[in-house]
Amino acid sequence: MTELDRLREPIADASPALWAALSPLGRRVAFPPDIPFQAAEARGMRYNGTIGQITDGAGRPLALPAVAEALALEQAASDRALLYSPVQGILEVRAAWRRWQRRGVDRALPSSQPLVTVGLTHGLALAADLFGGEGRAIVVPAPFWGNYRQTFGVRTGARIVTAPAYRDGTYNPLAIPEALAGEPAGAPAVAILNLPSNPGGYMPTTSERSALLTGLLAEAERRPLVVLCDDAYAGLVYEAEAPARSLFWDLIGRHPQLVPVKIDGGTKEFSFFGGRVGFLTFPFEPASKIAQALESKVKCLVRAVVGSPVATSQVLLHQALMAPDVEEQVEAVRRRLGRRYLVLREALQSVDSGLMRPLPFNAGCFALLELASGLDPEALRQRLLARHDTGVISIQPSYVRIAFCSVKADDLPELVERLARGAREGRVR
Ligand SMILES: Cc1ncc(COP(=O)(O)O)c(C=O)c1O
Repeated sequence: MTELDRLREPIADASPALWAALSPLGRRVAFPPDIPFQAAEARGMRYNGTIGQITDGAGRPLALPAVAEALALEQAASDRALLYSPVQGILEVRAAWRRWQRRGVDRALPSSQPLVTVGLTHGLALAADLFGGEGRAIVVPAPFWGNYRQTFGVRTGARIVTAPAYRDGTYNPLAIPEALAGEPAGAPAVAILNLPSNPGGYMPTTSERSALLTGLLAEAERRPLVVLCDDAYAGLVYEAEAPARSLFWDLIGRHPQLVPVKIDGGTKEFSFFGGRVGFLTFPFEPASKIAQALESKVKCLVRAVVGSPVATSQVLLHQALMAPDVEEQVEAVRRRLGRRYLVLREALQSVDSGLMRPLPFNAGCFALLELASGLDPEALRQRLLARHDTGVISIQPSYVRIAFCSVKADDLPELVERLARGAREGRVR
């Protein structure tokens, strides 16, 4: 039996839908039994001449003092930061992130040991390699974070299929099944669920959430459906009516044809943007054969593209995860953004609805505004740069996005004022 056959069986047995949804690339990858594999097997050997890592001969790095001093870590952490990470990530970091993800989650819900990725973008690219590919439908409510186009469409040839995330100014929880209505029954599809959303800054309320789940389960009656939960903004929710918990947990084990996959990480959750520590998590117990088979596939892709993830930033994230007051620290950031959210919401109330209207927002880092017809978002953006010393993001055909996460609360009313002025000028031309 080849290594590929060995991986096929546990996946196809435990989740035929997941096997059906794998791309040709996803099917053919398997972690090769080469250097990292053999080095891992030799760990702890008295004489270990496996890996091309420069050490003192007893497992410790021959660190340049200039690098070690810059890290300012105690010795064990410094050693771990300077040596190669395992391809799947440092075990302690994975275990600590798993505990972090599972705060308040029912113990009975299975989830794998998260695999470490180089930021969430890399986690999404790995998911694209596994489940994308030529012609595959990737469904995403629009407007969406534009990089999905590159990650799934440009890189793998998948087709981006959209439906409106908002209808008549309210959130549309059925966007994914609506977008899939025209796709032939039985054809596997991938849906991206990015909540809290970018660019929307929205987390569904309890009733919207249940409509969304019902819609996805109904869609799974029609086809194998992989739901990628892009939880970049996990936890950043400012209204009690919207449960903050990731939809990943609500989708596990709900339908044999529906496989949720979680992509998250330290980027926004820990304000550790430059660290590039992301995670990819499957809805299976760590010791299960299917989790191990998927891990082998992901490790093959990681090894082929980045070799192994960055050890240094994993060690830093681990230190943060082990801090006794880490939850309070994360909560302090959320509260600070929550105040900006309130100030922005208030400021937007005074904007002339003949110019633009804010779409509902209650979470994450952004507010999305829909411009009145006749106003072009890109022209408005250019005018704000040229005349009003103000930067926002334009999104076609009719939106601008304000990132309140990067503006002081006290500056937000003036930003809104300038935005409105720029729009008024666009009107009179
Ligand atoms: C929705 C969403 N997903 C993923 C990412 C990428 O995160 P990272 O910087 O960790 O690659 C972002 C970053 O802006 C994002 O907004």
